[in-house]
Amino acid sequence: MTQKRQIIVTNALPYANAPLHLGHMLEYTQTDIWVRFQRMRKNDCYYMSADDAHGTPIMLTASQKGISPEEHIDKIRESHEADFKDFLISVDNYYTTHSPENQKLCEDIFKILKRNKHIEEREISQAFDQQENLFLADRYIKGTCPNCLAENQYGDNCEACGATYKPTDLINPISVLSGTKPVERESKHYFFKLSEFNDFLKDWLSKDVVTESIANKLNEWLEEGLTDWDISRDEPYFGFLIPGEDTKYFYVWLDAPIGYIAAFKNYCNHSKLDFNYFWGKDSPTELYHFIGKDIINFHALFWPSMLKSAGIRLPTKICVHGFVTINGLKMSKSRGTFILARDYLDNLDPDFLRYYYACKLSNSAEDLDLNLEDFVQKINSDLVGKVVNLASRCSKFITKGNDGYLHSEIDDKELWNIFSQSATTISENYENRNFSKATREILKLTDLANEYISDKQPWVLNKEHDNKEQVLKICSLGINLFRLIMIYLKPITPNLVRKAEDFLNETLLWDSSAHPLLNHKIKKFEPMISRIQNENIEAMLNSANDGKA
Ligand code: 2FM
Ligand code: ZN
Repeated sequence: MTQKRQIIVTNALPYANAPLHLGHMLEYTQTDIWVRFQRMRKNDCYYMSADDAHGTPIMLTASQKGISPEEHIDKIRESHEADFKDFLISVDNYYTTHSPENQKLCEDIFKILKRNKHIEEREISQAFDQQENLFLADRYIKGTCPNCLAENQYGDNCEACGATYKPTDLINPISVLSGTKPVERESKHYFFKLSEFNDFLKDWLSKDVVTESIANKLNEWLEEGLTDWDISRDEPYFGFLIPGEDTKYFYVWLDAPIGYIAAFKNYCNHSKLDFNYFWGKDSPTELYHFIGKDIINFHALFWPSMLKSAGIRLPTKICVHGFVTINGLKMSKSRGTFILARDYLDNLDPDFLRYYYACKLSNSAEDLDLNLEDFVQKINSDLVGKVVNLASRCSKFITKGNDGYLHSEIDDKELWNIFSQSATTISENYENRNFSKATREILKLTDLANEYISDKQPWVLNKEHDNKEQVLKICSLGINLFRLIMIYLKPITPNLVRKAEDFLNETLLWDSSAHPLLNHKIKKFEPMISRIQNENIEAMLNSANDGKA
């Protein structure tokens, strides 16, 4: 028997600053499918997430709303939790980085990094807004590009010509916050000496923690050499004070990943888990981080280096996905395609998007297009037309003909074996996050099952009394094949499978795929899902438009 794995799984923590959109849902769907699959395989999977609650933008939004940052992040967290729940994300603990556990962990880790001489204090000069009394991050400074003279460009790069520069290079720079000209001001900052971790990272990245193409990209960065990382911010800032300081805070990107550990620590308070067993340097457990391609540097360079210095376990894998495009283009407010999770949920079944994303997800970081026409077509054809229809066309002969009891024998053992043995490849594809391959395999099986029923034509046989037994056998196999399809789809479409379980009168486990259901009473078939109508899509797009016009 294979040993039960113990796996901590995390998602990128969404900022507690805005509602979730369909881009967030790609990552959460991907992670949730993987987690549900692991649980079906009887592994212990602890799925941790949280709101990323700190930083300047959150502080500014709260102040614009005239509320405290705490009040602001609490409200947002509530909406995030509701969206995740309704998208059937089976997270075990959804916490916040603004927590006592996180503060303590950040302080403790910082002290260890300092003791290890991995922290250095340096005076640096930065743009300062005298009116707002605030140091300005690059995104809060705009001006004319020094390269192509395009106006209204951000402080770090030009959208017109692609040049990168320092905010001090901008011609006529102004603060986005006050419209005044920033001045240069010196201040002491804390740096994490990332440059000392080059060799460690090279070695760690060679251990299959990321896919080959991501490892190649990271190795390019390592070849260029890493610069030390500024982990502090001056007041005013919403975050945790650095020990020994009363005006300097940890940069949000320092405390955010530590929030993964804090969420688990908090989870341990309500369970019997041994925190140290999971986070100790040589822990035999696994740690999977699911993230988007925009934050690879934080997770595959800064984070493992910090953990290494702090003597904490390292991640087992960092699973990177690409961005969502809608109808081939970046999600955009002006095009009305900036679709919030709630705009979707108000109009469509969460299983449908989960299925569509799964059909397109692989373990690569390529972008994924949500083409709305294709989406409607795919759901109506695959899930409604093929999968559920299989149960619908077989069930009545069993409920009417045999009081709901399935036949005691399998009609076509070869066909049954093909279905049952597919568990191995489908399971490998789930494990390796090749969900598109898993769904293709499942759909191939569905086609086979439907062909079998169409060939046997039980509805024709049923017209003659002598054939009743045969009809029952054929339809019982049809239901058994439907049952295996439901087992294989369970990580992806939990709502649909819950209804199928009710109909089949059985809780579906992964191992149930080894044996057919014989002599078993099923319930009367009730429609499980209905076709998507164009009106559903239009209503979703209308609400996406309303919110942001
Ligand atoms: O990019 C983001 O949305 C960040 N809030 C992700 C943080 S992930 C982790 F480090 F906490
Ligand atoms: Zn330019």
